[in-house]
Amino acid sequence: MQLIDGNKLAQEIKDEIAGEVRKIQAEGGKIPHLAAVLVGEDPASQSYVRSKVRSCEQVGFKSTLIRRGTELTEAELLDIVQGLNEDPDIDGFIVQLPLPAQIDELKVTLAIDPRKDVDGFHPVNFGRMAQGLPAYLPATPYGILQMLERYGIETSGKHCVVVGRSNIVGTPISILLSRKAKVGNCTVTLTHSRTRDLPAETRRADIIIAAIGIPNFVRGDMVKEGVVVIDVGINRVDDPTAKRGYRLVGDVHFDEVAPKASFITPVPGGVGPMTVTSLLMNTLRAARGEVYPPAAKSKTP
Ligand code: GUN
Repeated sequence: MQLIDGNKLAQEIKDEIAGEVRKIQAEGGKIPHLAAVLVGEDPASQSYVRSKVRSCEQVGFKSTLIRRGTELTEAELLDIVQGLNEDPDIDGFIVQLPLPAQIDELKVTLAIDPRKDVDGFHPVNFGRMAQGLPAYLPATPYGILQMLERYGIETSGKHCVVVGRSNIVGTPISILLSRKAKVGNCTVTLTHSRTRDLPAETRRADIIIAAIGIPNFVRGDMVKEGVVVIDVGINRVDDPTAKRGYRLVGDVHFDEVAPKASFITPVPGGVGPMTVTSLLMNTLRAARGEVYPPAAKSKTP
């Protein structure tokens, strides 16, 4: 069994990005600039956004954090989004979710210019991804592709079972792994809460992507020998012996599944750290105009 070390891989990718930023700087180019909008006081969101901003600093990006209180109105947030859409110095930005109840998340997502949507949440980017066109890929699926590629895990012709059909993980990763692409060409089964005999499906899998949000959901008797397991879950479970009173576990029962797996991601330290690097990679691609061609220069003098 080989552990897929997300921390190590994320650091490698950050080092590569930092090298690219140094090159841009040496050539007198524009330093990539990511903005993040954080509304309210949700502790998990604060910690995610802090980590995103810190990662920008580590690789040499510019970053801007826009913080607003829980009472922010939808109209005020839409104004902020409009400002970021129009700011030529901002290459990409994110609005951290969840948002306070008075704000419609879909409306906000739709207001983001797809050219700056480095989260890959806008339906234009989702549609481009599904059709194999250049697109910003959502962070977690992009991170999973990186893990599979950089650990040399063969995907072509393999049977991949995805557990969970969310818009940001299960559905996009099922599309990406079935594409004709370097990491792809899988036969994919997308399972969910209404799947009949889910263990029979996971037992057939060469690769399992667990993204259902239920602690320890995938048990040892649900997998076959040699399976590759990517565990997307980050669940808090009570643990009075832990300093914080809880510990993090994945959607996979690690102790039962690891002995049967050829590769497995730990929680924490697996998929989690890869999501921030995906965001940095999307921002670098945005700054380089790799996904959308740069806006045509005005012909008028
Ligand atoms: N909330 C949890 N994950 C994410 C993410 O990847 N992007 C944004 N914008 N909000 C999130």
